[in-house]
Amino acid sequence: MSKVILEVKNLTKVYRIGLIRQKEIVAVNNINFNVKEGEIISLVGESGSGKTTTARIILRLLRPTSGNVLFNGKDIWRDIRNRKELKWYWRNVNGVFQDPYSSFNPTHTIRFVMLRKFNLFDEEMDYDTKISMIKEALKEVGLIPEEILDKRSFELSGGMRQRVLIAQIFLIRPKLVIADEPTSMIDATLRLSLLDLFLKLRDEFKTSQIFITHDLGLATYTSDRILVMYKGKIVEEGTPEEILNKPSHPYTKKLLESVPKLYSKWFT
Ligand SMILES: Nc1ncnc2c1ncn2[C@@H]1O[C@H](COP(=O)(O)OP(=O)(O)OP(=O)(O)O)[C@@H](O)[C@H]1O
Ligand SMILES: [Mg+2]
Repeated sequence: MSKVILEVKNLTKVYRIGLIRQKEIVAVNNINFNVKEGEIISLVGESGSGKTTTARIILRLLRPTSGNVLFNGKDIWRDIRNRKELKWYWRNVNGVFQDPYSSFNPTHTIRFVMLRKFNLFDEEMDYDTKISMIKEALKEVGLIPEEILDKRSFELSGGMRQRVLIAQIFLIRPKLVIADEPTSMIDATLRLSLLDLFLKLRDEFKTSQIFITHDLGLATYTSDRILVMYKGKIVEEGTPEEILNKPSHPYTKKLLESVPKLYSKWFT
């Protein structure tokens, strides 16, 4: 059995909106799950079910209302207190996001964007070492370094931009990646090749992954385990095979109706 690297315990996030008559939105409602080393899990659910909120809490970008997140047994709010410890955390737990357009400043070159990631590294490295590591990472995701290093993000296609985001993960080699709709801007054929990069990441570096999507079909492609989120709760959990063949929650059944047969490898 591989060891558990991330534990999410009784996690709840309530947003309060409005100044005078405050309205409460329970975005995440007492969820529990864990992730093992090298495991890929998916959080699947409709828009507004609390997926991104969960991701932001785990990435330590948002404080939960209650509950805990433990990485390697360390509570990410209680035990990580200064800049140095936070750097350590983001070196180990990093993310790829939904929208490749907002992830880049258009005035920055890809060289600049990639070099900046070395802020997370503890060790000192000279410029040439950094550049050769960057080139290696870009090659891993199928990009030609010489062609794109000095381009700016707006000079790349959406698919290339998304590959650059994944190349950053190959560079950092975190233990856990949280990918929030990483292929939502990409057409269907390219999408599978990007998913294959996530599988490659796991095969080469044993990177655990939390893959977030509203598409149950996509989730079955890479995941070892799928968690179905509905209105802030996890309503169902299982292997792709279990979820596809024996869904128990009505919402999972509804989601299943939209799974294209393209992902039918698990149907028996
Ligand atoms: N900063 C915020 N302030 C107030 N409410 C928020 C905030 N962020 C999210 N919410 C609300 O919390 C709920 C969950 O949102 P969240 O973004 O986590 O959903 P999601 O599952 O990621 O949806 P999507 O698939 O559309 O990305 C929604 O009702 C949303 O309106
Ligand atoms: Mg979201």
